[in-house]
Amino acid sequence: MFTHAIVRKPSESMLSGLTEANLGKPNYKLACKQHQDYIAALHECGIKVTELETLEQYPDACFVEDVALLTPKCAILTHPGASTRKGEVIYIEQAVRDFFSNAEKIEAPGTLEAGDIMMVGNHYYIGLSKRTNAQGAKQLINILERYGLSGSIVEMSGLLHLKTGLSYLENNNLLTFGDMHLHPDFRQFNRIKVENEEAYAANSVWINGTVLVPKGFPKILKAIKNLGYKTREVDMSEFQKLDGGLSCLSLRF
Ligand code: GLY
Repeated sequence: MFTHAIVRKPSESMLSGLTEANLGKPNYKLACKQHQDYIAALHECGIKVTELETLEQYPDACFVEDVALLTPKCAILTHPGASTRKGEVIYIEQAVRDFFSNAEKIEAPGTLEAGDIMMVGNHYYIGLSKRTNAQGAKQLINILERYGLSGSIVEMSGLLHLKTGLSYLENNNLLTFGDMHLHPDFRQFNRIKVENEEAYAANSVWINGTVLVPKGFPKILKAIKNLGYKTREVDMSEFQKLDGGLSCLSLRF
């Protein structure tokens, strides 16, 4: 169960955020409205939300998930692979330290963005991507093991982050997109295939029994409902333009 989340308001500078989506520039006003609805959805799941102020100098800073990993035993501040995002970490650190007395750090030459990390109980799958390298993943595994947790490296390609193509919905249910569907590391799960035209919805988020699903992806929404979950759609159109998914907008713990 999660009790808290940390989010950061989008900044007007989000218009120059990193993207390969080719969906045009986000509409800032609409993004703010969608962000408020995202916070409302977290509240509906029984979560207390800490809303951090905008960071104009960091266009991607609303995607707080990438800069820290919050586990039940410790917090880990990451070292983003994207050069324009490295400076975000010191700004999340204070918010994290308000809740965690022990905050570990990933150090250069290791890089790690927590969008590449998927938690399944006490185990953390770590995808190697353009943003997360093997040194970063190994540092994280060493930290996790010191706290009685575990981690493993996932080889992958063609995804921005691991959770661009996977979402664990608890109860052994895993949304899988593309190569992730037959990936040997995930054979033990009940895999629910996300079709190509609904790829963006492979990033959905389980929170306390409810699954947040991006709005506009009816097939996967139905599949998730058929598994017995309560669902809550959230319009993410403006964040999708920056390659940001539902999980990217919060740190949940
Ligand atoms: N625009 C989010 C990211 O690329 O990190």
